[in-house]
Amino acid sequence: MTTAATLFSPFTLGPLRLENRIVASPMCQYSAVAGRVQPWHLVHLGGLALSGAGLVIAEATAVNAQGRITHGCLGLYDASHEAALGAILAQIRAFSPAALGIQLSHAGRRASARSIFERSKGESLPPDEGAWETVAPSALPVAPGWHRPRVMTGADIAQVIDDFAAAAARADRAGFDLVEIHAAHGYLLHQFLSPLTNRRTDDWGGDQPARNRLLIEVVRAVRAALPATRALGVRMTSTDWHPDGLTLDDAVALAQTLAALGVDYAVMSAGNLTPDVRIPAATPGHQVPFAARIRERAGLATMAVGQILDGPQAQAIVAEGGADLVAIARALLDDPRWAWHAAAALGVDIDYPPQYIRARPNNWTGYALVHGGAPEIASARQADRPPTALWDRPQATTDNPKGSAP
Ligand SMILES: Cc1cc2nc3c(=O)[nH]c(=O)nc-3n(C[C@H](O)[C@H](O)[C@H](O)COP(=O)(O)O)c2cc1C
Repeated sequence: MTTAATLFSPFTLGPLRLENRIVASPMCQYSAVAGRVQPWHLVHLGGLALSGAGLVIAEATAVNAQGRITHGCLGLYDASHEAALGAILAQIRAFSPAALGIQLSHAGRRASARSIFERSKGESLPPDEGAWETVAPSALPVAPGWHRPRVMTGADIAQVIDDFAAAAARADRAGFDLVEIHAAHGYLLHQFLSPLTNRRTDDWGGDQPARNRLLIEVVRAVRAALPATRALGVRMTSTDWHPDGLTLDDAVALAQTLAALGVDYAVMSAGNLTPDVRIPAATPGHQVPFAARIRERAGLATMAVGQILDGPQAQAIVAEGGADLVAIARALLDDPRWAWHAAAALGVDIDYPPQYIRARPNNWTGYALVHGGAPEIASARQADRPPTALWDRPQATTDNPKGSAP
Protein backbone atom coordinates (compact mmCIF):
# COMPACT_ATOMS: atom_id res chain seq x y z
CA MET A 1 0.00 0.00 0.00
CA THR A 2 1.45 3.39 -0.94
CA THR A 3 -0.95 6.19 -0.02
CA ALA A 4 -2.35 7.05 3.37
CA ALA A 5 -6.14 7.26 3.08
CA THR A 6 -7.51 6.73 6.58
CA LEU A 7 -9.95 4.10 5.29
CA PHE A 8 -7.01 1.92 4.35
CA SER A 9 -4.90 2.60 7.42
CA PRO A 10 -4.55 -0.12 10.09
CA PHE A 11 -6.62 0.08 13.26
CA THR A 12 -6.03 -1.42 16.68
CA LEU A 13 -9.33 -2.87 17.90
CA GLY A 14 -8.65 -4.05 21.44
CA PRO A 15 -6.17 -6.89 21.01
CA LEU A 16 -6.58 -7.05 17.21
CA ARG A 17 -4.70 -5.24 14.50
CA LEU A 18 -6.98 -4.73 11.53
CA GLU A 19 -5.42 -4.09 8.12
CA ASN A 20 -7.96 -1.40 7.30
CA ARG A 21 -11.21 0.19 8.53
CA ILE A 22 -13.59 -1.79 6.32
CA VAL A 23 -15.84 -4.35 8.02
CA ALA A 24 -18.17 -6.85 6.38
CA SER A 25 -21.31 -6.42 8.49
CA PRO A 26 -23.09 -9.53 9.83
CA MET A 27 -25.78 -10.78 7.48
CA CYS A 28 -28.21 -13.62 8.27
CA GLN A 29 -28.22 -16.18 5.48
CA TYR A 30 -31.04 -18.46 6.73
CA SER A 31 -29.09 -21.32 5.20
CA ALA A 32 -28.02 -23.37 8.22
CA VAL A 33 -29.38 -26.85 8.89
CA ALA A 34 -30.14 -27.54 12.55
CA GLY A 35 -27.93 -24.54 13.38
CA ARG A 36 -24.92 -25.87 11.43
CA VAL A 37 -22.98 -24.12 8.67
CA GLN A 38 -23.37 -25.45 5.12
CA PRO A 39 -21.28 -25.08 1.92
CA TRP A 40 -23.15 -21.80 1.32
CA HIS A 41 -21.49 -20.30 4.41
CA LEU A 42 -18.02 -21.20 3.18
CA VAL A 43 -18.73 -19.52 -0.15
CA HIS A 44 -20.42 -16.50 1.48
CA LEU A 45 -17.87 -15.89 4.26
CA GLY A 46 -14.97 -16.95 2.04
CA GLY A 47 -16.08 -14.43 -0.58
CA LEU A 48 -16.32 -11.66 2.01
CA ALA A 49 -12.88 -12.65 3.31
CA LEU A 50 -11.51 -12.10 -0.21
CA SER A 51 -13.25 -8.74 -0.55
CA GLY A 52 -10.44 -6.68 0.95
CA ALA A 53 -12.35 -5.95 4.17
CA GLY A 54 -10.05 -5.97 7.20
CA LEU A 55 -12.69 -7.70 9.33
CA VAL A 56 -15.53 -10.04 8.41
CA ILE A 57 -18.27 -10.68 10.99
CA ALA A 58 -20.42 -13.77 10.55
CA GLU A 59 -24.18 -13.48 10.89
CA ALA A 60 -26.35 -13.40 14.03
CA THR A 61 -25.72 -16.83 15.58
CA ALA A 62 -28.05 -18.16 18.23
CA VAL A 63 -26.72 -19.02 21.68
CA ASN A 64 -29.45 -21.64 22.14
CA ALA A 65 -32.02 -23.34 19.91
CA GLN A 66 -34.90 -21.25 21.26
CA GLY A 67 -33.03 -18.07 20.32
CA ARG A 68 -32.88 -18.77 16.57
CA ILE A 69 -34.94 -16.38 14.46
CA THR A 70 -35.77 -19.08 11.90
CA HIS A 71 -35.12 -22.77 11.26
CA GLY A 72 -32.25 -21.64 8.98
CA CYS A 73 -30.31 -19.57 11.53
CA LEU A 74 -26.81 -20.46 12.62
CA GLY A 75 -26.28 -21.72 16.17
CA LEU A 76 -23.28 -22.15 18.41
CA TYR A 77 -24.78 -24.25 21.18
CA ASP A 78 -23.36 -27.70 20.60
CA ALA A 79 -20.08 -29.38 19.72
CA SER A 80 -21.13 -30.05 16.13
CA HIS A 81 -21.73 -26.33 15.54
CA GLU A 82 -18.30 -25.48 16.94
CA ALA A 83 -16.54 -28.15 14.86
CA ALA A 84 -18.28 -27.21 11.60
CA LEU A 85 -17.62 -23.47 12.06
CA GLY A 86 -14.01 -24.19 13.08
CA ALA A 87 -13.50 -26.22 9.90
CA ILE A 88 -14.69 -23.47 7.55
CA LEU A 89 -12.68 -20.88 9.47
CA ALA A 90 -9.51 -22.92 8.97
CA GLN A 91 -10.24 -23.14 5.25
CA ILE A 92 -10.81 -19.37 4.99
CA ARG A 93 -7.64 -18.57 6.94
CA ALA A 94 -5.62 -20.56 4.42
CA PHE A 95 -6.39 -17.95 1.76
CA SER A 96 -7.39 -14.72 3.53
CA PRO A 97 -5.64 -12.34 5.93
CA ALA A 98 -8.95 -10.82 7.15
CA ALA A 99 -9.76 -10.93 10.85
CA LEU A 100 -12.85 -13.06 11.46
CA GLY A 101 -15.62 -12.39 13.96
CA ILE A 102 -19.03 -13.75 14.84
CA GLN A 103 -22.17 -12.09 16.16
CA LEU A 104 -23.92 -13.88 19.05
CA SER A 105 -27.63 -13.39 19.50
CA HIS A 106 -30.92 -14.51 20.99
CA ALA A 107 -34.06 -13.49 19.14
CA GLY A 108 -36.43 -13.51 22.15
CA ARG A 109 -39.97 -12.73 21.00
CA ARG A 110 -38.79 -12.50 17.38
CA ALA A 111 -37.79 -16.19 17.34
CA SER A 112 -39.72 -18.96 15.60
CA ALA A 113 -40.33 -16.89 12.47
CA ARG A 114 -40.44 -17.68 8.78
CA SER A 115 -37.41 -16.79 6.68
CA ILE A 116 -36.93 -15.41 3.18
CA PHE A 117 -37.18 -18.98 1.93
CA GLU A 118 -40.86 -18.99 2.90
CA ARG A 119 -41.28 -15.60 1.14
CA SER A 120 -41.72 -14.17 4.60
CA LYS A 121 -42.08 -10.59 5.72
CA GLY A 122 -40.87 -11.79 9.12
CA GLU A 123 -44.09 -13.32 10.45
CA SER A 124 -44.25 -16.06 13.10
CA LEU A 125 -44.07 -19.73 12.09
CA PRO A 126 -47.44 -21.51 12.17
CA PRO A 127 -47.58 -24.69 14.33
CA ASP A 128 -47.48 -27.03 11.29
CA GLU A 129 -44.15 -25.50 10.22
CA GLY A 130 -42.36 -26.48 13.43
CA ALA A 131 -43.02 -23.38 15.56
CA TRP A 132 -41.43 -23.35 19.01
CA GLU A 133 -42.12 -21.49 22.26
CA THR A 134 -40.65 -17.99 22.41
CA VAL A 135 -39.55 -16.08 25.51
CA ALA A 136 -39.18 -12.40 26.33
CA PRO A 137 -38.96 -10.01 29.29
CA SER A 138 -42.74 -9.42 29.10
CA ALA A 139 -45.66 -11.18 27.40
CA LEU A 140 -45.89 -8.69 24.53
CA PRO A 141 -46.03 -10.01 20.95
CA VAL A 142 -44.18 -8.04 18.25
CA ALA A 143 -47.55 -7.30 16.59
CA PRO A 144 -50.97 -8.92 16.26
CA GLY A 145 -50.53 -12.38 14.73
CA TRP A 146 -47.05 -12.94 16.20
CA HIS A 147 -46.33 -15.49 18.95
CA ARG A 148 -47.15 -14.30 22.46
CA PRO A 149 -43.84 -14.91 24.30
CA ARG A 150 -43.60 -16.58 27.69
CA VAL A 151 -42.27 -14.24 30.40
CA MET A 152 -38.75 -15.30 31.35
CA THR A 153 -38.16 -16.48 34.90
CA GLY A 154 -35.01 -15.72 36.89
CA ALA A 155 -33.79 -19.22 36.01
CA ASP A 156 -34.41 -18.61 32.27
CA ILE A 157 -32.39 -15.38 32.50
CA ALA A 158 -29.50 -17.09 34.29
CA GLN A 159 -29.53 -19.81 31.61
CA VAL A 160 -29.36 -17.26 28.77
CA ILE A 161 -26.35 -15.56 30.40
CA ASP A 162 -24.64 -18.96 30.64
CA ASP A 163 -25.57 -19.72 27.02
CA PHE A 164 -23.94 -16.49 25.79
CA ALA A 165 -20.78 -17.35 27.75
CA ALA A 166 -20.72 -20.95 26.46
CA ALA A 167 -21.21 -19.77 22.87
CA ALA A 168 -18.38 -17.24 23.28
CA ALA A 169 -16.08 -20.00 24.54
CA ARG A 170 -17.06 -22.09 21.51
CA ALA A 171 -16.37 -19.12 19.21
CA ASP A 172 -12.92 -18.79 20.75
CA ARG A 173 -12.16 -22.50 20.33
CA ALA A 174 -13.47 -22.43 16.75
CA GLY A 175 -10.87 -19.72 16.05
CA PHE A 176 -12.83 -16.47 15.84
CA ASP A 177 -10.80 -13.32 16.58
CA LEU A 178 -13.81 -11.34 17.74
CA VAL A 179 -17.26 -11.74 19.26
CA GLU A 180 -20.03 -9.18 18.76
CA ILE A 181 -23.05 -9.31 21.10
CA HIS A 182 -26.28 -8.41 19.35
CA ALA A 183 -28.21 -5.96 21.55
CA ALA A 184 -30.19 -4.22 18.80
CA HIS A 185 -32.81 -4.82 16.06
CA GLY A 186 -35.53 -5.83 18.51
CA TYR A 187 -33.92 -9.09 19.65
CA LEU A 188 -33.87 -10.38 23.24
CA LEU A 189 -31.20 -8.09 24.75
CA HIS A 190 -32.80 -5.06 23.11
CA GLN A 191 -36.21 -6.23 24.41
CA PHE A 192 -34.78 -6.12 27.94
CA LEU A 193 -33.14 -2.70 27.39
CA SER A 194 -36.19 -0.86 26.13
CA PRO A 195 -39.07 0.39 28.27
CA LEU A 196 -41.37 -0.39 25.32
CA THR A 197 -40.84 -4.14 25.66
CA ASN A 198 -39.62 -4.58 29.26
CA ARG A 199 -42.48 -4.10 31.74
CA ARG A 200 -40.87 -6.15 34.50
CA THR A 201 -40.96 -4.99 38.10
CA ASP A 202 -38.26 -7.38 39.41
CA ASP A 203 -34.46 -6.86 39.36
CA TRP A 204 -34.43 -7.05 35.53
CA GLY A 205 -36.78 -4.12 34.89
CA GLY A 206 -38.33 -1.01 36.38
CA ASP A 207 -35.77 1.67 35.64
CA GLN A 208 -33.05 2.03 33.01
CA PRO A 209 -30.18 0.62 35.13
CA ALA A 210 -32.33 -2.48 35.84
CA ARG A 211 -33.30 -2.81 32.17
CA ASN A 212 -29.59 -2.59 31.26
CA ARG A 213 -28.74 -5.36 33.70
CA LEU A 214 -29.15 -8.37 31.39
CA LEU A 215 -26.83 -6.92 28.73
CA ILE A 216 -24.29 -5.98 31.40
CA GLU A 217 -24.37 -9.50 32.89
CA VAL A 218 -24.03 -11.02 29.40
CA VAL A 219 -21.06 -8.76 28.63
CA ARG A 220 -19.38 -9.70 31.92
CA ALA A 221 -19.89 -13.42 31.29
CA VAL A 222 -18.75 -13.26 27.66
CA ARG A 223 -15.67 -11.17 28.47
CA ALA A 224 -14.75 -13.70 31.17
CA ALA A 225 -15.22 -16.59 28.71
CA LEU A 226 -12.91 -15.03 26.11
CA PRO A 227 -9.14 -14.83 26.37
CA ALA A 228 -7.64 -11.32 26.26
CA THR A 229 -6.49 -12.00 22.69
CA ARG A 230 -10.09 -11.88 21.41
CA ALA A 231 -11.92 -8.61 20.79
CA LEU A 232 -15.44 -7.94 22.07
CA GLY A 233 -18.04 -5.60 20.60
CA VAL A 234 -21.71 -4.81 21.06
CA ARG A 235 -24.27 -3.95 18.39
CA MET A 236 -26.28 -1.26 20.18
CA THR A 237 -29.48 0.56 19.46
CA SER A 238 -29.06 4.33 19.17
CA THR A 239 -32.78 5.10 19.37
CA ASP A 240 -36.08 3.23 19.28
CA TRP A 241 -37.49 6.08 17.16
CA HIS A 242 -40.39 6.20 19.67
CA PRO A 243 -41.20 8.97 22.19
CA ASP A 244 -41.33 6.43 25.05
CA GLY A 245 -38.38 4.32 23.89
CA LEU A 246 -34.60 4.32 24.17
CA THR A 247 -32.75 7.49 23.23
CA LEU A 248 -29.20 8.33 22.22
CA ASP A 249 -28.57 9.60 25.77
CA ASP A 250 -29.47 6.13 27.07
CA ALA A 251 -27.01 4.66 24.57
CA VAL A 252 -24.23 7.03 25.67
CA ALA A 253 -24.67 6.08 29.34
CA LEU A 254 -24.76 2.38 28.50
CA ALA A 255 -21.73 2.61 26.23
CA GLN A 256 -19.73 4.26 29.06
CA THR A 257 -20.57 1.27 31.26
CA LEU A 258 -19.70 -1.19 28.49
CA ALA A 259 -16.32 0.48 27.92
CA ALA A 260 -15.50 0.02 31.62
CA LEU A 261 -16.40 -3.68 31.35
CA GLY A 262 -13.81 -4.33 28.64
CA VAL A 263 -15.93 -3.94 25.51
CA ASP A 264 -13.67 -2.88 22.63
CA TYR A 265 -16.20 -1.27 20.29
CA ALA A 266 -19.83 -0.38 19.72
CA VAL A 267 -21.58 -0.57 16.36
CA MET A 268 -24.48 1.87 16.31
CA SER A 269 -27.71 0.74 14.71
CA ALA A 270 -31.31 1.82 15.43
CA GLY A 271 -34.97 0.84 15.33
CA ASN A 272 -36.70 -2.45 14.52
CA LEU A 273 -38.10 -2.97 18.03
CA THR A 274 -41.77 -2.20 17.45
CA PRO A 275 -43.62 -1.76 14.17
CA ASP A 276 -45.67 1.28 15.31
CA VAL A 277 -42.96 3.90 14.80
CA ARG A 278 -42.14 6.41 12.13
CA ILE A 279 -38.52 5.95 11.13
CA PRO A 280 -36.89 8.69 9.05
CA ALA A 281 -35.91 7.62 5.54
CA ALA A 282 -32.53 5.88 5.44
CA THR A 283 -30.28 8.29 3.61
CA PRO A 284 -26.56 7.67 2.93
CA GLY A 285 -24.69 7.49 6.24
CA HIS A 286 -27.89 8.10 8.25
CA GLN A 287 -26.58 6.40 11.41
CA VAL A 288 -23.10 7.95 11.38
CA PRO A 289 -24.06 10.78 13.82
CA PHE A 290 -24.96 8.10 16.39
CA ALA A 291 -21.53 6.47 16.11
CA ALA A 292 -19.88 9.89 16.28
CA ARG A 293 -21.69 10.75 19.53
CA ILE A 294 -20.74 7.45 21.19
CA ARG A 295 -17.14 7.83 20.03
CA GLU A 296 -16.98 11.33 21.49
CA ARG A 297 -18.84 10.72 24.77
CA ALA A 298 -18.11 7.11 25.71
CA GLY A 299 -14.45 6.83 24.80
CA LEU A 300 -15.25 3.66 22.90
CA ALA A 301 -14.13 2.76 19.39
CA THR A 302 -17.13 2.85 17.10
CA MET A 303 -18.30 1.28 13.91
CA ALA A 304 -20.80 3.13 11.74
CA VAL A 305 -23.31 1.15 9.68
CA GLY A 306 -26.16 1.91 7.30
CA GLN A 307 -26.11 3.12 3.71
CA ILE A 308 -22.35 3.50 3.49
CA LEU A 309 -22.13 3.24 -0.23
CA ASP A 310 -18.71 4.00 -1.65
CA GLY A 311 -15.06 4.64 -0.87
CA PRO A 312 -15.08 8.45 -0.77
CA GLN A 313 -18.09 8.47 1.60
CA ALA A 314 -16.46 5.84 3.85
CA GLN A 315 -13.15 7.74 3.79
CA ALA A 316 -14.91 10.96 4.86
CA ILE A 317 -16.60 9.13 7.76
CA VAL A 318 -13.36 7.80 9.24
CA ALA A 319 -11.22 10.84 8.37
CA GLU A 320 -13.69 13.31 9.91
CA GLY A 321 -14.14 11.33 13.13
CA GLY A 322 -17.61 9.97 12.41
CA ALA A 323 -16.42 6.48 13.32
CA ASP A 324 -13.28 4.40 13.56
CA LEU A 325 -14.60 1.65 11.33
CA VAL A 326 -17.31 1.34 8.68
CA ALA A 327 -19.50 -1.76 8.42
CA ILE A 328 -20.88 -2.49 4.98
CA ALA A 329 -23.72 -4.93 4.27
CA ARG A 330 -25.78 -4.61 1.08
CA ALA A 331 -23.15 -2.70 -0.89
CA LEU A 332 -20.81 -5.68 -0.35
CA LEU A 333 -23.44 -8.12 -1.62
CA ASP A 334 -23.91 -5.88 -4.64
CA ASP A 335 -20.18 -5.49 -5.27
CA PRO A 336 -17.96 -8.08 -3.57
CA ARG A 337 -14.98 -6.04 -4.82
CA TRP A 338 -16.27 -2.91 -3.05
CA ALA A 339 -12.97 -2.48 -1.20
CA TRP A 340 -10.91 -2.77 -4.38
CA HIS A 341 -13.04 -0.11 -6.03
CA ALA A 342 -12.91 2.08 -2.92
CA ALA A 343 -9.11 1.84 -2.99
CA ALA A 344 -9.01 2.74 -6.67
CA ALA A 345 -11.35 5.72 -6.13
CA LEU A 346 -9.08 6.96 -3.32
CA GLY A 347 -5.86 6.33 -5.23
CA VAL A 348 -4.70 3.71 -2.75
CA ASP A 349 -2.60 0.79 -3.82
CA ILE A 350 -3.76 -2.35 -2.03
CA ASP A 351 -2.60 -5.90 -2.40
CA TYR A 352 -4.85 -8.30 -4.26
CA PRO A 353 -4.94 -12.05 -3.67
CA PRO A 354 -2.10 -13.35 -5.87
CA GLN A 355 -4.58 -15.46 -7.83
CA TYR A 356 -6.41 -12.26 -8.87
CA ILE A 357 -3.57 -9.79 -9.53
CA ARG A 358 -4.19 -9.86 -13.27
CA ALA A 359 -7.29 -7.74 -12.54
CA ARG A 360 -5.40 -4.96 -10.71
CA PRO A 361 -5.88 -1.55 -12.34
CA ASN A 362 -2.23 -1.30 -13.35
CA ASN A 363 -2.08 -4.86 -14.66
CA TRP A 364 -5.08 -4.71 -16.94
CA THR A 365 -5.80 -2.14 -19.65
CA GLY A 366 -9.46 -3.19 -19.61
CA TYR A 367 -9.82 -1.64 -16.14
CA ALA A 368 -9.94 1.91 -17.51
CA LEU A 369 -12.53 0.93 -20.12
CA VAL A 370 -14.82 -0.82 -17.62
CA HIS A 371 -14.52 1.80 -14.88
CA GLY A 372 -14.31 4.93 -17.02
CA GLY A 373 -10.68 5.70 -16.28
CA ALA A 374 -7.64 4.34 -14.54
CA PRO A 375 -7.03 5.36 -10.90
CA GLU A 376 -4.01 7.46 -10.14
CA ILE A 377 -1.94 4.90 -8.32
CA ALA A 378 1.79 5.24 -8.47
CA SER A 379 3.09 1.82 -7.64
CA ALA A 380 5.06 -1.11 -8.80
CA ARG A 381 3.13 -4.09 -10.08
CA GLN A 382 2.30 -6.33 -7.16
CA ALA A 383 4.15 -9.16 -8.86
CA ASP A 384 7.33 -7.02 -8.86
CA ARG A 385 7.18 -6.20 -5.16
CA PRO A 386 8.61 -8.26 -2.36
CA PRO A 387 5.93 -10.51 -0.81
CA THR A 388 5.22 -8.56 2.35
CA ALA A 389 1.46 -8.98 2.56
CA LEU A 390 -0.25 -11.82 4.33
CA TRP A 391 -1.83 -12.68 1.00
CA ASP A 392 1.58 -13.91 -0.13
CA ARG A 393 2.15 -16.41 2.64
CA PRO A 394 2.37 -20.01 1.49
CA GLN A 395 -0.83 -21.85 2.21
CA ALA A 396 -1.12 -24.92 4.41
CA THR A 397 -3.14 -27.67 2.80
CA THR A 398 -3.77 -31.30 3.61
CA ASP A 399 -1.13 -32.30 1.05
CA ASN A 400 1.27 -29.64 2.27
CA PRO A 401 0.48 -29.40 5.99
CA LYS A 402 3.36 -27.12 6.97
CA GLY A 403 2.56 -24.65 4.24
CA SER A 404 6.08 -24.81 2.87
CA ALA A 405 6.53 -23.38 -0.59
CA PRO A 406 6.01 -26.05 -3.25
C1 LIG B 1 -29.27 -9.95 4.15
C2 LIG B 1 -29.06 -9.18 5.43
C3 LIG B 1 -28.94 -9.85 6.62
C4 LIG B 1 -28.66 -9.14 7.81
N1 LIG B 1 -28.42 -9.82 8.96
C5 LIG B 1 -27.96 -9.17 10.05
C6 LIG B 1 -27.46 -9.87 11.18
O1 LIG B 1 -27.33 -11.09 11.17
N2 LIG B 1 -27.09 -9.14 12.26
C7 LIG B 1 -27.14 -7.76 12.27
O2 LIG B 1 -26.80 -7.14 13.28
N3 LIG B 1 -27.55 -7.08 11.19
C8 LIG B 1 -27.93 -7.75 10.08
N4 LIG B 1 -28.29 -7.06 8.97
C9 LIG B 1 -28.16 -5.59 8.98
C10 LIG B 1 -26.81 -5.17 8.39
O3 LIG B 1 -25.73 -5.71 9.14
C11 LIG B 1 -26.69 -3.64 8.33
O4 LIG B 1 -26.74 -3.12 9.63
C12 LIG B 1 -27.82 -3.02 7.50
O5 LIG B 1 -28.09 -3.78 6.33
C13 LIG B 1 -27.47 -1.58 7.10
O6 LIG B 1 -26.27 -1.57 6.38
P1 LIG B 1 -26.23 -1.45 4.74
O7 LIG B 1 -26.96 -0.19 4.38
O8 LIG B 1 -24.75 -1.40 4.42
O9 LIG B 1 -26.91 -2.66 4.16
C14 LIG B 1 -28.58 -7.74 7.79
C15 LIG B 1 -28.76 -7.07 6.58
C16 LIG B 1 -28.97 -7.76 5.41
C17 LIG B 1 -29.09 -7.00 4.11
